[in-house]
Amino acid sequence: MMDEEYYYSKFFPLGKMPGVYRVKGVQGVELATKNLTPGLTFYGERLFDTEFGELREFSHNRSKLASSILNGLRLPDLGPDSDVLYLGASFGTTPSHVSDLLTGTGIEFALEFAPRPMRDLLHVVDKRKNMIPVLGDARFPDMYSDLVHAVDFLYCDVAQASQSELFIKNAEYFLKPKGIGFIAIKAKSISQVKKPWEVFSEQKNFLEDHGMDVFQEIDIGKYHRDHKVFVGKWY
Ligand SMILES: C[S@@+](CC[C@H](N)C(=O)[O-])C[C@H]1O[C@@H](n2cnc3c(N)ncnc32)[C@H](O)[C@@H]1O
Repeated sequence: MMDEEYYYSKFFPLGKMPGVYRVKGVQGVELATKNLTPGLTFYGERLFDTEFGELREFSHNRSKLASSILNGLRLPDLGPDSDVLYLGASFGTTPSHVSDLLTGTGIEFALEFAPRPMRDLLHVVDKRKNMIPVLGDARFPDMYSDLVHAVDFLYCDVAQASQSELFIKNAEYFLKPKGIGFIAIKAKSISQVKKPWEVFSEQKNFLEDHGMDVFQEIDIGKYHRDHKVFVGKWY
């Protein structure tokens, strides 16, 4: 209903993706989230005053989550009360938008191992009460298992050769049964010689062999070269 009602305006809520809005007729902007920190921006994104409150540009060129949504991904269960573990939080670009979606009791643990991006991430976290920064290496969840509790949603974007292995390891530690896992796979981080489709196929098999029931795969190569996203349910 809402989608149809607002179709002819510039902004309208995306069905099955609570907190995410479609933007039409604004050059270069396709998606936005409702800004949890009105007036504040974190990476030069645009702000819009709308009938839904202040919306914040969610850049599909900067975020693999945004480009996946633009390519059809819908996550109806990622909502206000979801707890999230975000692996590879970097400067906080996508994590800040995930934080926008958690308007209820949801908490986002934002894990990063490099001190430089962690410094910028702290500026984001400082303004957002639902984010907890974790300085740690995603390959070793036992090192931060006392800081992170069980989550409903596991996000992984670390661009590392062992990304699928560490994703599964973190799922084993922290993802609740039937929780959702999202992993952005960069083919070139895994093999410089194999074709991307070959790498993606092997990685998908690995995920499925280790308890992740992949229900959606999204090619985001148009916005992020040689990247594919897999989304699965954890059993
Ligand atoms: C592609 S960037 C992530 C961008 C971020 N997801 C976003 O959309 O805003 C990958 C990040 O993963 C971090 N990273 C790589 N390996 C890691 C590891 N083993 N543990 C924690 N962070 C890691 C890197 O330092 C880098 O900041």
